Amino acid sequence: MTTGRSNTFYIHTFGCQMNQADSAIITALLQQAGYTLAESEERAGIILLNTCAVRENAVDRIENYLQHLQGLKKRDKALLVGITGCIPQYQREEMFFNSYAIDFLAGPDTYRTLPLLIEQARTGAKPVSLDFNDSETYEGVDPVRQGVISAFVPVMRGCNNMCAYCVVPFTRGRERSQPFSAVMGEVKQLVASGYREITLIGQNVNSYHDPEQGMHFAALLDSVSREAPEARIRFTTSHPKDISEALVRTIADRQNICHHIHLPVQSGSTTMLGRMNRGHTIEDYKEKIALIRSIIPGVALSTDIIAGFCGEQEEDHQASLELLSSVRFDSAYMFFYSTRPGTLAARTLVDDVPEAVKKRRLQEIIDLQNSISSELFHESIGSVVEVLAESESKRSSLQLMGRTSGNRAVVFDREGYQPGDLVRVLITGTTSATMTGRPERGQEGNPSLY
Ligand code: SAH
Ligand code: SF4
Ligand code: F3S
Repeated sequence: MTTGRSNTFYIHTFGCQMNQADSAIITALLQQAGYTLAESEERAGIILLNTCAVRENAVDRIENYLQHLQGLKKRDKALLVGITGCIPQYQREEMFFNSYAIDFLAGPDTYRTLPLLIEQARTGAKPVSLDFNDSETYEGVDPVRQGVISAFVPVMRGCNNMCAYCVVPFTRGRERSQPFSAVMGEVKQLVASGYREITLIGQNVNSYHDPEQGMHFAALLDSVSREAPEARIRFTTSHPKDISEALVRTIADRQNICHHIHLPVQSGSTTMLGRMNRGHTIEDYKEKIALIRSIIPGVALSTDIIAGFCGEQEEDHQASLELLSSVRFDSAYMFFYSTRPGTLAARTLVDDVPEAVKKRRLQEIIDLQNSISSELFHESIGSVVEVLAESESKRSSLQLMGRTSGNRAVVFDREGYQPGDLVRVLITGTTSATMTGRPERGQEGNPSLY
């Protein structure tokens, strides 16, 4: 083992919450091996990029960042650069051709090998560790998280769906669930450490299946909410075909489970959903929404939507716009389609919507959704909401930023409150993505959950 700066590491995390959770696991594994987390990239002897491959622009971002690291390596020959996560898992050794700055590669199932890879990389070898391991859940590793208020807890890893556009099954491998006992153990620790918000994460949490006692996600969510009664409980992502009535009832019954469901739809057209291999029609989706809204009145719903997937006609695009208008989601993540090598679509369909058309359709989707979000935000002016304060606002230490149960961002006057406090806030205004307000003291009655 070398000492000094060469013994310190820094991780840049890209992509989804799963990658953020994995960075906390990587930090724990490297600390156990004697490495120290550096405060910044400049102070680190080892730089890791934990990468995302889900869309072409995510991959472009990494390639740009590698150029910057190449510059750093010119100045510091001892600096090691490792690439982890979803890009090396499917690009494999070819990644080394992208940049001479790269020293080693590891995939989502092989983080336990990182200390060994670092040792080998120091000798000038270019080691890779990219095997899938369908039983790896990193059980027993105690993640080293960045924040002290909100924590992600992975309950399952991988994905057994084969949505035609999606690279995730190829980067994350087969689905596997964390034992119920392990999840509960982690939640107990988070409660003891004072965490105020716990988000259970997985590519498709609804297909959670306890490998020991066979428990399903609704039962897990219920138990987590009872174990952490003082914390807010969230979960993501849900697949429309798997969301069950039992799960919806659990959310309604348990006061500390947030009234927010992220339910990616991807398209408003059944023809497109079929081509995307989503396993449900748009009628099925609307029925699920109606069921959710009948059991949890006022629930906040958000979605993901893709513009310009293979073969998308103008009428399919109109169907997506109609869906947004009829459901009125609180918010949406909106993308234009980009082919991912190796996916079902890349192998069997033609990426035939011209880029200009994809971008125009996406802009129409964004404009419509922004106006819906803004209308919904305006409707909340004058109501009192319960906000979990997360941090100081970016603009001023006299204001705090937090979220409602429905996951809306709120910036409000601080008035002595601290991050971690649950604050009743009177909404007085909105900007495009944020609501603004001030604490409402000494009022009786239940705050709105929005
Ligand atoms: N497991 C989650 C999220 C997967 S990736 C789920 O099933 O919903 C997050 C989002 O990225 C997807 O919901 C989809 O909207 C988008 N996405 C995935 N692949 C894409 C591609 N090739 N082009 C554009 N958007 C894509
Ligand atoms: Fe990708 Fe579909 Fe799996 Fe989500 S459910 S990770 S979109 S294959
Ligand atoms: Fe990206 Fe991998 Fe997550 S591809 S979205 S980091 S699972």
